[in-house]
Amino acid sequence: MAEPLLVLQGIVKSFRQGRRGMLHALKDVSLDVHAGEIVALVGESGSGKSTLGRVALGLLRPDAGRVRFDGHDFAALTSQQFRRLRVGMQPIFQDPSASLNPRRTVRESLEQALWRTPGDEQARCVRLLEDVGLRPALPFLERYPHELSGGQRQRVLIARCLAMQPKLIIADEPLSGADVSIRGQVLNLLLDIQRRRNVAYLMITHDISIARAFADRVAVMMKGELVEIGPAREVLSVPSHSYTRRLLAAVPALG
Ligand SMILES: Nc1ncnc2c1ncn2[C@@H]1O[C@H](COP(=O)(O)OP(=O)(O)O)[C@@H](O)[C@H]1O
Ligand SMILES: [Mg+2]
Repeated sequence: MAEPLLVLQGIVKSFRQGRRGMLHALKDVSLDVHAGEIVALVGESGSGKSTLGRVALGLLRPDAGRVRFDGHDFAALTSQQFRRLRVGMQPIFQDPSASLNPRRTVRESLEQALWRTPGDEQARCVRLLEDVGLRPALPFLERYPHELSGGQRQRVLIARCLAMQPKLIIADEPLSGADVSIRGQVLNLLLDIQRRRNVAYLMITHDISIARAFADRVAVMMKGELVEIGPAREVLSVPSHSYTRRLLAAVPALG
């Protein structure tokens, strides 16, 4: 079997917490994501999910452990090699208004992401916007983020992410800023992208119903440890850990 796209091995990360000493956010966490796979990382707030996502993205250096992406060990790369590799791994964060520059039009935000590959920029911007369901695309190009709805901003962010042609998208609570009516649409869009482009996802969420609708595998974090991991159907229908059962009991059945 091919090496997983992302390998997190024995990741340890602690934060200093004033006089109270160290907060052990990640205690020896190992997780991998295969090409084209959707892995949901679930767990209650404060369990260490975002910290693990930040370590995977290279935004945070672990105290111990290894991160490998696409066959390369982060620790073995020069910063230039790392930047090149990192293009293949793109984040989508929760708040689309914080992630888009308010002074840039949609066109400017997308063009910034497109400089890597040659071609007619306007045509490619239009194609990207159509890809994320903003049709007709042309009128969106000259709009600023404040002229878009929350759902449209999230779609622009996803378009910008796709412009990099990532192999892996690390999405940290990408739907929790959106209201209920557009959550389903954005979720469907992400699924559609996965099918069309075979992108892998590490989908970080406290909402286990998203994992149920979406994931191939589910990893459950509690207090800095992975307490359960397995195929979504198994973990979510016959959870072996009492913490997973509690998480499941806390959500209403998905409609
Ligand atoms: N930069 C930081 N400095 C200090 N503590 C942090 C920092 N980032 C996260 N933490 C702490 O680490 C723990 C895990 O946080 P986080 O990874 O954000 O959890 P989650 O995403 O599951 O809600 C929390 O107790 C949080 O307060
Ligand atoms: Mg978080």
